[in-house]
Amino acid sequence: MIRLYLLPRNVDLRAMAKGEWAIVTGATDGIGKAYSFELARRGFNIVLISRNQHKLDDVKRDIEEKYPNIKVKTIAFNFANHVKSTEYQPMFEELNQLEIGMLVNNVGIGYDYPDNLLKIEDGLNLFPDIVIVNMLPVTLLTAAIMPQMIKRCAGIIVNISSITGVYPMTLWGVYSSTKAYVNWFSDMLRREYPNKGVTIQSISPALVCSNLSKKKRPSFFIPDADTFARSAISTIGLTEKTSGYIGHQIQTDMAKLVPSFLGDFFLDRKVWEIRRAALRRKAREAKGK
Ligand SMILES: NC(=O)c1ccc[n+]([C@@H]2O[C@H](COP(=O)([O-])OP(=O)(O)OC[C@H]3O[C@@H](n4cnc5c(N)ncnc54)[C@H](OP(=O)(O)O)[C@@H]3O)[C@@H](O)[C@H]2O)c1
Repeated sequence: MIRLYLLPRNVDLRAMAKGEWAIVTGATDGIGKAYSFELARRGFNIVLISRNQHKLDDVKRDIEEKYPNIKVKTIAFNFANHVKSTEYQPMFEELNQLEIGMLVNNVGIGYDYPDNLLKIEDGLNLFPDIVIVNMLPVTLLTAAIMPQMIKRCAGIIVNISSITGVYPMTLWGVYSSTKAYVNWFSDMLRREYPNKGVTIQSISPALVCSNLSKKKRPSFFIPDADTFARSAISTIGLTEKTSGYIGHQIQTDMAKLVPSFLGDFFLDRKVWEIRRAALRRKAREAKGK
């Protein structure tokens, strides 16, 4: 923890990546947007991928204003609507025209609040989207972009999982399972492609302020997305798996230190607390209407 988060970290990412461009999926909000800005600050040109062209244009403009030497491209693509690799093909062709040094598989969706599988609102419609968006893009983009990295013997792939992908978290069933896939998939890539010069990192954050978490007020344990991304990016090259941020690492390591029944007890208590707070918020909103 001290080496990762407290000592100065000076990894030259551009030298490690040996490619000018970084791709970020889910780049118009939250953690993906923060990664995009931080990577631009570190000298990468950025390809932003999200659903909404207006939001993409806004983020592109903001990055170009802040970092005038950085080039930004945008691709509007709704990952929920595409399940065949042929539908990804035009995007792959566009991306493979560029020298991609880094791929950040960040896009992910969840549900409004944790609940039992059968109680999730509109679950039967929502679950396919969660399964597709959280698992398919990371798989296909990696398979499409990694060959050029292997050819150059350099490159960085960062897969954003979640603490719910490390510990099976009650009431987050579908989301937690898809995030476990992201970690497992990253482990497999490292086993299948060792010594190819490609760094595969999986990041498993706890709560970060964002639309997805619905947390607005940052604190030591719930950082804003910029603080989180800056911290997580500076762990690249130092570790293959981490939560990405010291406040989260303390939570993750504490859960490992205590006996599992105690860890489960505290995690479950926290999740039920989040559910109760969400239901109170919903009731307030319904009253306000
Ligand atoms: N925030 C947390 O507490 C937390 C904790 C652990 C892990 N994570 C993980 O971190 C990642 C980012 O989460 P976040 O909190 O930053 O989420 P967020 O604020 O909701 O941002 C999600 C991004 O993904 C894009 N997006 C959503 N659905 C899409 C789709 N179908 N196709 C293409 N783009 C789509 C959104 O842009 P458009 O709406 O413009 O498409 C937005 O840019 C996720 O993988 C999440 O599971 C987050």
